[in-house]
Amino acid sequence: PAPSVSVCVPPAVSAGLTPAFEQQLRDVLRSEVEFIELIGEDLVGAGGKRIRPQVTLLAAEALGAVPPDTAAVKLAVCIELLHSASLLHDDLIDDADTRRGQEAAFRRYGNVVSVMSGDFMLSRLLVLLSDLPGCARLTRAFGEVASMVCEGEVLQFQVAAYGNPSYEQYERIIYGKTAALLELAAAAPALLLNAAPEQEAALRQYGRELGMAFQLRDDLLDLLGREEELGKPVGSDLREGKATWPVLRLLDSPAGEEVRTILMRRAAPSGDLVRIQTLAAEHHAEADTWAEIARRLNLARQALDALPGGSARQELEDLLDRLIPDLH
Ligand code: FPP
Ligand code: MG
Ligand code: MG
Repeated sequence: PAPSVSVCVPPAVSAGLTPAFEQQLRDVLRSEVEFIELIGEDLVGAGGKRIRPQVTLLAAEALGAVPPDTAAVKLAVCIELLHSASLLHDDLIDDADTRRGQEAAFRRYGNVVSVMSGDFMLSRLLVLLSDLPGCARLTRAFGEVASMVCEGEVLQFQVAAYGNPSYEQYERIIYGKTAALLELAAAAPALLLNAAPEQEAALRQYGRELGMAFQLRDDLLDLLGREEELGKPVGSDLREGKATWPVLRLLDSPAGEEVRTILMRRAAPSGDLVRIQTLAAEHHAEADTWAEIARRLNLARQALDALPGGSARQELEDLLDRLIPDLH
């Protein structure tokens, strides 16, 4: 689409994470090119929940860093940059209308500006990583995660195109979409601070299970939530031929053949979505999905036991309930 910069909606005001974090984020996004700065200002500067960098700062604190620790803040900014870059690319390939309550960046600035700004963020994060302690370990970890995010995205496309979904593939997809980056967000401070291997493993597990639980819930709400609460249409995964966890449960149920037919025609006839919702209740697919979410959250909670006790560890635990509030 043609750039439509003149119709910019003012960004929503975000409370931000910490002053040191917000300042570092602004500094790293500085560019002489106005359109790059504009994207930085309204995608990164507005409306983001800052969950991932918050996990990073809390994990660093739990490992003994005293806030505002400059290196931990830079690391948290790198995490937010990787996340924001992936969202810029994601909205373009998903042809999304909005992001964080604003028109998607590629619709306002065009594809060139949007893709290049994502690449700009990835490049700036490499520069920021380069002078941190543990830089070699961190660069490797960021590179591994970024490649898994890309693989997950292509696998999602491939599975929807071939129509042969499996739990294994679904888990790989949501790992790439959400859990890989949360795992990195939690574990990167262990690489920065050269923490004991058990502490790194615990933080990895915390971030991974939190991410898997979060995406399972997101996918369940996409199928069964209410549009007023979600702020986006219900059933979009089904219409795109994506078999999420509750749908995989249904494919294994006595209603499997009917569900497979609906999935293959991408819930095109009106009534298909409601039918799947009814079947999800009848065949316990909804309850099973909540049980899987609870199982993952418990694993995340247990992982924290390996960390030193204190307020940061407690906040990491509280985050689990805050992010997944409506566990049945
Ligand atoms: C969101 O899922 C998906 C992601 C955050 C990952 C997207 C990854 C890419 C596009 C590859 C580019 C990667 C890098 C490292 C730049 P969704 O589309 O299901 O959710 P949504 O509702 O938030 O759009
Ligand atoms: Mg998307
Ligand atoms: Mg997507």
